[in-house]
Amino acid sequence: MKFFLDSAIIDEIQYALDMWDIDGVTTNPRHVQVSGKPFLTVVQEIGKLMAGTDKTVSVQTNPHNHDNHDAIIEEARRFVELNPETFVIKMPCTEAGFKACKVLTDDGIRANMTLCFSAMQAMQAMRMGATYVSPFIGWKESNGEETGSFIADCVQIKHNFDYGTEILVAAVRNGRQIADAAVMGADIVTAGIAVYKEAFAHPYTDVGLGKFQSFWDETPYEES
Ligand code: E4P
Repeated sequence: MKFFLDSAIIDEIQYALDMWDIDGVTTNPRHVQVSGKPFLTVVQEIGKLMAGTDKTVSVQTNPHNHDNHDAIIEEARRFVELNPETFVIKMPCTEAGFKACKVLTDDGIRANMTLCFSAMQAMQAMRMGATYVSPFIGWKESNGEETGSFIADCVQIKHNFDYGTEILVAAVRNGRQIADAAVMGADIVTAGIAVYKEAFAHPYTDVGLGKFQSFWDETPYEES
């Protein structure tokens, strides 16, 4: 499974590349706003960090254009010119977004269909040739919805029809969700740095280390 970092903070991304060899980055307007930098500055900085690798950076189009496929297409083409090797263009799971996805994909531009909340939206993203489709499980769960069957349905649909789209499970809040997504056959998860840090640790690992350190300290290392 590929692990993407959901962030637009350069130090976090550098850390996740160095320590965890993350496979890509996803950004959204909130992450860019938190970075404190202008949109174009920060996405190009992130793109540079990935230079010479096959890792991707998902860059989100202007959400105000959600119902205007021509505007989405025009903006996506401008973004891709900035970094054709690395940028995957995020566009919403709307009728205009799906149309833009098809036009751009036919031109070799990669799409990440974001804000996906149903298996039907995921299927249309796959039919339109999206590189990634992003089911947002954290938001659905906050809305009291069950997400296990949602991911499982997306994976099943992908395999039933042999679609090439990768299922990128997004808005992930903990390690259990990452493991569940992996078991169900999702291709990628994207999560924030704190989620990965917590997920890679376990309190019993720390307890065990404390115990083993005591035994270690109480045992001679070699014949005296
Ligand atoms: C995914 O690509 C999104 O950027 C992300 O997961 C959005 O959700 P969150 O910011 O609530 O985690």
